[in-house]
Amino acid sequence: MTTSPVILVTGASGVVGSALLRHLSGPPGGGRVISLAHRRPVAGEVVRGDITRPWLGLSPGDYRDLTAATDVVVHCAALVHFSATARSLHRMNVRGTGHVLRFVEDAGARLVHGSTAFVTRTRPEATSSAYAGSKADSETLVTESGLPAAVARISTVIGDARTGTVARLQAFHYLVGMAMWGRLPFLPCAETTLIDMVPTDVVAAALAALARDGSARGKYWITAGPAALPMSRVVDTGCDIALELMAEAGTAPPDVGLRKLQPRLVDPALYDAVVAGVLSAAQGASPGPDAGDDGVPPSALRHVTGLLASYNGVAPFPTSLGTIPGGPPALAESAADSALRATYRYLGAIPRETWTLGW
Ligand SMILES: NC(=O)c1ccc[n+]([C@@H]2O[C@H](COP(=O)([O-])OP(=O)(O)OC[C@H]3O[C@@H](n4cnc5c(N)ncnc54)[C@H](OP(=O)(O)O)[C@@H]3O)[C@@H](O)[C@H]2O)c1
Repeated sequence: MTTSPVILVTGASGVVGSALLRHLSGPPGGGRVISLAHRRPVAGEVVRGDITRPWLGLSPGDYRDLTAATDVVVHCAALVHFSATARSLHRMNVRGTGHVLRFVEDAGARLVHGSTAFVTRTRPEATSSAYAGSKADSETLVTESGLPAAVARISTVIGDARTGTVARLQAFHYLVGMAMWGRLPFLPCAETTLIDMVPTDVVAAALAALARDGSARGKYWITAGPAALPMSRVVDTGCDIALELMAEAGTAPPDVGLRKLQPRLVDPALYDAVVAGVLSAAQGASPGPDAGDDGVPPSALRHVTGLLASYNGVAPFPTSLGTIPGGPPALAESAADSALRATYRYLGAIPRETWTLGW
């Protein structure tokens, strides 16, 4: 293989894939990158396909040309919606990965498989359980294929470390976006629960390094590890940034009571027993399609409980950052904190209605 392998990226329009594409087109560059685009537009060299279909939905000629050209596949196409049915999760994340593996075999290529650190946290009460289960099944397929593969177990992806930008809002972004504007009075989470977050550009740099390292095999944790931040800090930072943004915009004096609206972190067991009942009773009394102007959408409450179930009471993730040749250094706590601030600033610029209607 040459020093600059030809890389095929699936899911190149997604949160992770678009950051990877940006990284691969930046310095040192030089390598050919092809994207398997699906519905949304993708810049650069593109082949349009569908991983849920045999031969990636390509014509025989396109399939042959693509296998002949490809040295490494970085597989970022996936269904990451936590509310998706088990059937659609299986179709995309398991069967789709099967088709990608067949492609890797036909191309004599190597695979970097985008997975999630949450494959180790498939608790039934967690909203992400079915999704994480489908990703665990896809990891099994990859391992059992015997093909040369590196599995990248990515934790919660936040925005770019500098700009805070995310290509698409996902569950965690809704959680912190709602929290920062005082939309969630309580969060079922211990203050000390660690929230493992990685900026998109760090994920992209790690995936690019795994793609370029011909010897990368086995499992890699693309996680903050010891730089995970306690939930109390995540919530405090959101409120700080909201106040900063309001002061900068001159829309209100800093002390508008937002601090009082900051979510209270309550023991998850207590939340289940008392708070959820009280909130849903109050909710039942309030008008509006789902919440009204000042209410908390019941759907959001369900999401919050289910989402935080993946973080509460579990051991922190290990990390491989800092050990991948040519990859990014391990994330320092200060870097995690600054990326979180940048993400909040980005989220803070999004229309406020998003945080009532989006979830
Ligand atoms: N974001 C996170 O917090 C996070 C955390 C841990 C792990 N991960 C992992 O990282 C990977 C990427 O996730 P993401 O957050 O970037 O997802 P995403 O933003 O939802 O992007 C999904 C990508 O898959 C493409 N796609 C959808 N259906 C397809 C099909 N039938 N054929 C080909 N491509 C298709 C989409 O293209 P179109 O939009 O054009 O359909 C899009 O580019 C996944 O393996 C995920 O499990 C993500």
